[in-house]
Amino acid sequence: MPAPRKPKVLPPLEPDDRNVADRSVADRSVDDRLVAPEPRAGDDDKSLRPTTFDEFVGQARVVENLRTWTQAAQRSARPLDHILFTGPPGLGKTTLAHLVASTLGAEMTTTSGPVLERPRDLAGMLTKLGRGDVLFIDEIHRLRTHVEEYLYSAMEDFKIDLAIDEGPYARSVTVPLQRFTLIGATTRAGLLSKPFRDRFGIQERLMPYEPLELERIVTRSARVLGMPIAGEAAAVIARRARGTPRIANRFLARVRDVAQAGGQPRITEATAEQGLAMLGVDQEGLDELDRRILAVLAESPGTAVGLKTLAVATGEEEGTIEEVYEPYLIVRGFVRKTARGRVLGPNGLALLGIDPPPPPPPGDPARLPQGMLFA
Ligand SMILES: Nc1ncnc2c1ncn2[C@@H]1O[C@H](COP(=O)(O)OP(=O)(O)O)[C@@H](O)[C@H]1O
Ligand SMILES: [Mg+2]
Repeated sequence: MPAPRKPKVLPPLEPDDRNVADRSVADRSVDDRLVAPEPRAGDDDKSLRPTTFDEFVGQARVVENLRTWTQAAQRSARPLDHILFTGPPGLGKTTLAHLVASTLGAEMTTTSGPVLERPRDLAGMLTKLGRGDVLFIDEIHRLRTHVEEYLYSAMEDFKIDLAIDEGPYARSVTVPLQRFTLIGATTRAGLLSKPFRDRFGIQERLMPYEPLELERIVTRSARVLGMPIAGEAAAVIARRARGTPRIANRFLARVRDVAQAGGQPRITEATAEQGLAMLGVDQEGLDELDRRILAVLAESPGTAVGLKTLAVATGEEEGTIEEVYEPYLIVRGFVRKTARGRVLGPNGLALLGIDPPPPPPPGDPARLPQGMLFA
C-alpha cells in the first residue's frame, strides 16, 4: 500500500494578525470572526429582509408548512399554535417570525431570552398582547428557568399569576390573557427542556442554503441596494457564504463598496473576487474554527472523532460545534457523521489532500448509515 500523503496544512486565515492567532478560540468575541453569522453593527438586515413568503428564497418545506398553518388559522379565525424555529444563526429565523406575523395581520412584540430577567418582565408584555398577536422571543434557550416556567401557563392555559403586595401581605391573582402566538427562535434547541419544547405545536428547523439559493438572495439584495451584479459575481459570493444569507449579504455590501470606490456601475466577477480577497475569505468560506475542526479530523482520517473530543481539541463548546458549525460542514461534504462520530467527508479529504481511508470491513459499525439526512 502506498504511504499516505502528508496532509496539506491550510494557510491561516489572517496571517499577519498575531493577536487573533494567539488568543484561544473560546475567548475571542464573535465580532473578530470574519464570517460570524451573528448580526453585527452595520449589517443592513432590515432593508434586505424579505417582506412576503414569495420573496423568501429556499427552505421550501418550512415555508410551505408555514403558509398552510397560517392559512388554516386565518380561515378558522383562531390564533396560530406556538412556533419554535431552530437553526444556525443568519438563516432566516427572525425573518420568518416577521413573515408569519405579517401574514396573519398580527402585531408582533419582540424580545429575547437574556433580556427577560424576572417573570414580571414577561408579565408586562403578555398582558399587553391582543388576541392573535405574536410574541417573538429570540435566543429562547437563554431564558432563565423561572421565567421559562412562568411561560408554561401562559402558553397552555392563557393565564398567568401576578404577585401583588410583598412581605406578609403577599398574594397573587390569576389574570387571563388573550390567546396569543409565541414564536421562539434558537440556535441551540438542545438546551430547551423537553416540557418547554413540547409546548410548541409547530417546530421547524432551518438548514444551510444551497449555493444556487444564496445566488438568488444575493441578486435580490443587490437590487434592493441599487447596485447591479453580474450572475458570475453573485455565484462567487454565494459559494463562499457558508450557506448563510446573512454572511452573503455582508459580503455583498463590502463588494459593493469596492465597486463604488472604483467608480464601477456594476459588480463584476473580478470585483467580487477582489472584494472577498480583501476580506480574507478563503475559497470555501471557511473560518478559523472550521479549519481547526477539519485539522483535528485530519489527524486520523480513518477514525471517527466524538463530539467531546472535538470540543476539547478545538477549544469550542460542544453545542456550538454541533449546532453552529457542523450543519454547514456536513452539507458541503467536508465532514460526515457516522455511527461512531465525525470523520472527514469526501470534500474535506480533497481539500486537505488526503487519500480516502480504506472502507471498514463488512459488519463494522462504521458502515452503518452515515448521517444520510444531510448527505
Ligand atoms: N430565505 C431568505 N431569503 C432572503 N433573505 C434572507 C433569507 N433568510 C435570511 N435572509 C437575510 O439574512 C438576514 C438574516 O436573517 P435573520 O432572519 O435575521 O436570521 P436569524 O434570525 O436566523 O439569525 C436577513 O436580514 C435577511 O436579509
Ligand atoms: Mg435572528
